[in-house]
Amino acid sequence: MQPDILVKNLYKVYEDGHQALKNINLEIHKGEIFALLGPNGAGKTTLISIICGIVNLTEGKVEAAGHDIIRDYRKARASIGLVPQELHTDSFENVWAAVSFTRGLFGKAPNPAHIEKVLKDLSLWDKRNNRIMSLSGGMKRRLMIAKALSHEPDILFLDEPTAGVDVELRRDMWEMVRQLRENGVTIILTTHYIEEAEEMADRIGVIRQGEIILVENKETLMSKLGKKELRLHLQQPLESLPGELTLEPVELSEDGYELIYTFDSQQEQAGVARLLRTLGDLGIEYRDLRTRESSLEEIFVGLVHE
Ligand SMILES: Nc1ncnc2c1ncn2[C@@H]1O[C@H](COP(=O)(O)OP(=O)(O)O)[C@@H](O)[C@H]1O
Ligand SMILES: [Mg+2]
Repeated sequence: MQPDILVKNLYKVYEDGHQALKNINLEIHKGEIFALLGPNGAGKTTLISIICGIVNLTEGKVEAAGHDIIRDYRKARASIGLVPQELHTDSFENVWAAVSFTRGLFGKAPNPAHIEKVLKDLSLWDKRNNRIMSLSGGMKRRLMIAKALSHEPDILFLDEPTAGVDVELRRDMWEMVRQLRENGVTIILTTHYIEEAEEMADRIGVIRQGEIILVENKETLMSKLGKKELRLHLQQPLESLPGELTLEPVELSEDGYELIYTFDSQQEQAGVARLLRTLGDLGIEYRDLRTRESSLEEIFVGLVHE
């Protein structure tokens, strides 16, 4: 299947000589939620802006929905909706007019029913006659999404959608993104909140200093790079780690009451079984056993600092 977004050997050098992107290669498939995860300054906004035709590329090739973003600029652009990182909303216009106007910019015939649905989905319907400048920050954010959806794009970019957003709006946004995906919309979101990628994404790309250092299914990423931890709470405290256990990745807690065993998610069974057998042989009893998986955050921090 042809990818919905295709990025090939993409480079970006800004006018001041700063190289923001280095040889980016990326394929994003129809209907997936792809999270581009990276620290501030990594190049996320630059990459999105190039795909959306706001920033010129220096070298390479980009296609959106099968259209070259330079040669078939209009078609590529029409298939894309962008919710930018920065809000541009100090306007006297009212909500309804702004969203309708944006649709018109993409050359789409008016469709009041669609605009109504978008405004209702985003809880903006009651505000449709309000001036944009009178809206709260959260409402402005919703308006930016409404504008991005006004022309029924197949691909939606959300650049740091929940930076500085309250919990309620964040939840609404996640819900909306899921619904859009169910309708077949491809979603690309950038974030430096790992929680967001963990919650939302099907696949994750990690970008650092202008380079994509990894692209992986979320689940694969977490099981490949993740660690699991098994904690055994002992009946009686141990003075020190028994010799039989020193070969295993086991630690004893300060108070001697807990054994902490860390292992790769992939090779769990054998090690755990061996550990429990050894404890049985040594007559060490435990009254509680808990496991914990490392979060995407721990994996990410490990990757970026590698
Ligand atoms: N217009 C510009 N001119 C020069 N450098 C820029 C410009 N825009 C962004 N940069 C630089 O490019 C790098 C990537 O920026 P950006 O794409 O905004 O990163 P992110 O969105 O991941 O935080 C940063 O070092 C930033 O300072
Ligand atoms: Mg950015």
